[in-house]
Amino acid sequence: MSRNIKELISQMTLEEKASLCSGLNMWQTKAVERVGIPSIVMTDGPHGLRKQANPGDMSSKTVPATCFPSGAGLASSWDRELIREVGGALGEECLAEDVQIILGPAVNIKRSPLCGRNFEYFSEDPYLASEMGAQHVMGVQAKGVGTSVKHFAANNQETLRNSINTIVDERTLNEIYLRAFEGPVTEADAWTLMCAYNLVNGDFCSENEYLLTEVLKKRWGHSGFVMTDWGAINERVKGLQAGLELEMPYAGPERDRMIVEAVQAGELDERVLDEAVERLLGVIWKTFDARQEGYVYDREAHHALARQAAAECMVLLKNEGRLLPLDPKQSLAVIGAFADKPRYQGGGSSHISPSRLDAALPAIRDAAEGEVAFAQGYGLTDDVIDEKLIAEAVALAASKEVAVIFAGLPESFESEGFDRTHLHMPASHCELIRRVAAAQPNTVVVLSNGAPIAMPWLDAAAAVLEGYLGGQASGSAAADVLFGRVNPSGKLAETFPVSLEQTPAYLNFPGGKNEVFYGEGLFVGYRYYEAKKEKPLFPFGYGLSYTTFAYEKIEVDKALMKDTESIQVTVTVRNTGSRAGKEIVQLYVKPVDSSVVRPPKELKGFEKVSLQPGESAKVTFTLGKRAFAYFNTDIHDWFAETGIYEIVAGPSSADTPLSAEVKVISTGIPFRKVTRNTKFYELLAIPETADFAEKAMNDSVEGLKQMGAMFAESMGDGSLMLLFDEIMKWKKYDGLRSMAGLMGGGKTTEADLDQVIRELNETLGL
Ligand code: BGC
Repeated sequence: MSRNIKELISQMTLEEKASLCSGLNMWQTKAVERVGIPSIVMTDGPHGLRKQANPGDMSSKTVPATCFPSGAGLASSWDRELIREVGGALGEECLAEDVQIILGPAVNIKRSPLCGRNFEYFSEDPYLASEMGAQHVMGVQAKGVGTSVKHFAANNQETLRNSINTIVDERTLNEIYLRAFEGPVTEADAWTLMCAYNLVNGDFCSENEYLLTEVLKKRWGHSGFVMTDWGAINERVKGLQAGLELEMPYAGPERDRMIVEAVQAGELDERVLDEAVERLLGVIWKTFDARQEGYVYDREAHHALARQAAAECMVLLKNEGRLLPLDPKQSLAVIGAFADKPRYQGGGSSHISPSRLDAALPAIRDAAEGEVAFAQGYGLTDDVIDEKLIAEAVALAASKEVAVIFAGLPESFESEGFDRTHLHMPASHCELIRRVAAAQPNTVVVLSNGAPIAMPWLDAAAAVLEGYLGGQASGSAAADVLFGRVNPSGKLAETFPVSLEQTPAYLNFPGGKNEVFYGEGLFVGYRYYEAKKEKPLFPFGYGLSYTTFAYEKIEVDKALMKDTESIQVTVTVRNTGSRAGKEIVQLYVKPVDSSVVRPPKELKGFEKVSLQPGESAKVTFTLGKRAFAYFNTDIHDWFAETGIYEIVAGPSSADTPLSAEVKVISTGIPFRKVTRNTKFYELLAIPETADFAEKAMNDSVEGLKQMGAMFAESMGDGSLMLLFDEIMKWKKYDGLRSMAGLMGGGKTTEADLDQVIRELNETLGL
């Protein structure tokens, strides 16, 4: 239904408008009945619906819903279509439960593997997180249900999450932390965002004008609204002015009143309030109108989708001697309490009530034709090694052909609300794996955990399958993969380090009591490991299959491109094994010679392809300016420098056998104004100023050389000239000011320099 929102706002009282800026209760917005504005329901999220039967009653029970794999798992699928389909299913469950906005996806970057909420987040890589987040949003919103992309922004730890001030430089903030939100907003048009609890560079996210207005509304053109994380408000009026529309949940009448009083006192322009209300109403009505009374979804189909998704997400980390897939006839010892009582979802606000729960043990029993015996191996609730349970498990394992151990992290080890302090699994799990593997060489470990763990037992296990927190069908999905009904195709969306000490943020996580300094800058995840030439336990993008793939060829449709154009890169990949399988082809860009510090390589494209044995596919990627650009903090925008870039492709960040090159020609200007400290190399790269820069540089080199020659002669030491030659190689990185005075050879005066700068600005229209 189309409505004239502006007209309506003009009929509302100040109090009515202010009332819309905070919730009605925990999960609803306020209605304004006098003018026909409805209330809507929003609830968690992200990977399943956590809706209380009566959203107005905090004591009412959570309704059953499908628990899909959490973000960490979903991202390992690298499967856009799948994530979108899961989003669609979430949207349907919202329609059935009369929920208008689901709180998610959560796209925060995994800065450290310790963050307690990493299980909910997608990746350490902003492009991957952005792509996954965008698909999630599109899937949900296609059903007429809104999303709330969270937690905006730089919320990468749970320690002191309500008060910590994230100190992060502008370039890192934009290239890494904000980038993850960009796709969900600009491509998928997320209707709402949820601001984070923390501060960023001194301002609470709930009143951070840079984040909420400069970036979100102005740069990305967001037309929906921003809500607080639950209780993340600081000063209400300041928040509104900075671009925060909705405070959640309701916290009493005081803050609405503050808005009214600020307008009355002339401290807040009423137009700011009107714009906020306009944004709120846009989404409220859009979602309200899309409601479908009596909507019913197919619970079985959603469970089946959860199972398919969980299997797609599993990452085969090791498969020595091709132990997997299992032969159904083999006798099996299934070991570990998780096989019977799965660890399938994370703790905190995303914890939902599953509509059904598949444990692995019965699913394995269903799939197997041989004998399947079970031993618990460890206690579910504590970390203590239970010798009796281990002895039983070892004896059982030794008596069968294969042992399959289900292990990982219990809920008490990771959750929203706190960070881990180490990467260890419980000692009881590690000891079990070691001892069983010593007795049974055919030992498979299936892991349930939301984030990377250290694997001191890795050498002992023949096969390792990373299942993440796979949702309510994780058990049946594990059986599908173990027996080869599904060929594993997940790849890690994050690096698994050898140890905590090896991780990029080790020295700066979780920071002090007031601040956390993102000292590793751009070097997050594989950007760091690659730059340091550190070998992690498993690299970003890594994952095995029951088949094999060969990367045969890379082709580019041009060797030279302007940054206003794009290039097509085609990668040929072949299934060289004997089973059908899926491969995630990854494309990274490596700047060959950059004037700014850049990570050695960055993911700029990926595609999951399904191939029959022997079949090959050509996968085409289109790379535009952004694939080559860095965030330039002088122009506060993306800038692709003129230069050579290598484009590499392969099965993981650490294995990129194919390589091609392109020269990118920049058409932009990397500064706002020519100043006395603009560098020669910057002017050399701009066609309009290149000749001038060349000449000016050569003139001053000439001048200096003459001076150098005089020096050398006076000192009787000709080798001095070598020193000059070396220095001159760097001349292009000098600022224009070096034309004047001694460094310029003495010919250019300050007045000449001013004149030159004026002319250059004129030439460039700056
Ligand atoms: C979490 C959010 C969640 C909200 C509502 C907060 O504690 O940080 O992610 O959506 O609670 O449950």
